[in-house]
Amino acid sequence: MKALTGIVLILLAGLAASIWIGFHTKLSEGTLPYDDDQRGISEQVVIKFSHVVAENTPKGLAAQRFADRVNQVSDGNIKVEVIPNGGLYSDQEELEALKRGDIQMIAPATTKLSSFSSKWQVLDLPYMMPTRDSIIEAVNGEIGETLLQSLEENNLKGLTLWTNGFKQLTTNDGPIVQPSDLKGQHLRIMPSHVLKKQFELVGAKAVGLDFNETYRLLESGKLNGEENTISNIYSKKFFDVQSNLTISNHGFLGYAVIMNEDFWSKLTNEQQTVISKALEETTRWNQKQSFEMNDEQLSLIEDNSSIDIHYLTNEEKRKWFERWQPVYLEFEEEIGKELMSKMIQLRNSHKDF
Ligand code: SIN
Repeated sequence: MKALTGIVLILLAGLAASIWIGFHTKLSEGTLPYDDDQRGISEQVVIKFSHVVAENTPKGLAAQRFADRVNQVSDGNIKVEVIPNGGLYSDQEELEALKRGDIQMIAPATTKLSSFSSKWQVLDLPYMMPTRDSIIEAVNGEIGETLLQSLEENNLKGLTLWTNGFKQLTTNDGPIVQPSDLKGQHLRIMPSHVLKKQFELVGAKAVGLDFNETYRLLESGKLNGEENTISNIYSKKFFDVQSNLTISNHGFLGYAVIMNEDFWSKLTNEQQTVISKALEETTRWNQKQSFEMNDEQLSLIEDNSSIDIHYLTNEEKRKWFERWQPVYLEFEEEIGKELMSKMIQLRNSHKDF
């Protein structure tokens, strides 16, 4: 009996050893057992798409929708990984990281591109796009095309323009109704000469700071206020640390979706087509959804927070508009007369106050 047990044990040990050897031989020959996730992995293109806002915002949702579409249409051969909330890089860092090739895709606020080409400043001029239709006409038409093309000089591929919506004003020292109400206030703005000048004209001290620093600085009282879209005010809870919100619709926040040109040009035609088509579909969706989202989130702020809200009347808007006219003159040269005059023509055909 002992001898039989011994033989069985030896046979079992032999079997285990041959299974182990067989498995490792397969590994070393590179013939992994089939697994869906590994299909075509060697040719898979990974696109890291970094942005600074929350997931539940016009940009956050558009980025994820684009990623899902590309992953699905390419059958996993192009994998877009979205990193929201500045999880990898802050506003300024992400531009540098894209140029270095550490990430492959970003969608910064157009304001943040004026360091590449001063033409982008045209979108920051106050009340330059007075209605939603004027925004869509500008970004989808010749003006948007000119701006995207201006990125080529910096080895960047401008792919499309997404919208967020109109910027509003918030403060802890309100209400803000007349331009003089901002006198002496410390405000956070995106880094921009146009925005700085615009707030200087009404006696405020505006500082260009990273988006994800804003809440802390407002909460600590180091800043009085800021300007942003409702979706950013809502998703980052600025309404919790501000006492007054003015619906001024005085400025535009939108995004340029960009890739590093070297990365883009190394993609095959087929891969470029998948990306372009997914972007076309996402852009159409974003340009409708973004405005709806700002409307819905304004109702949520109204219903669920104690912030005081003032809607500027047309007469009040006219006062701000007049007060800010010098900024148009000051930046006309830098922006370029031709682009400026196209924008002003567009503005005049839509101005509703
Ligand atoms: C963003 O929407 O990407 C951020 C805008 C800001 O910096 O205020």
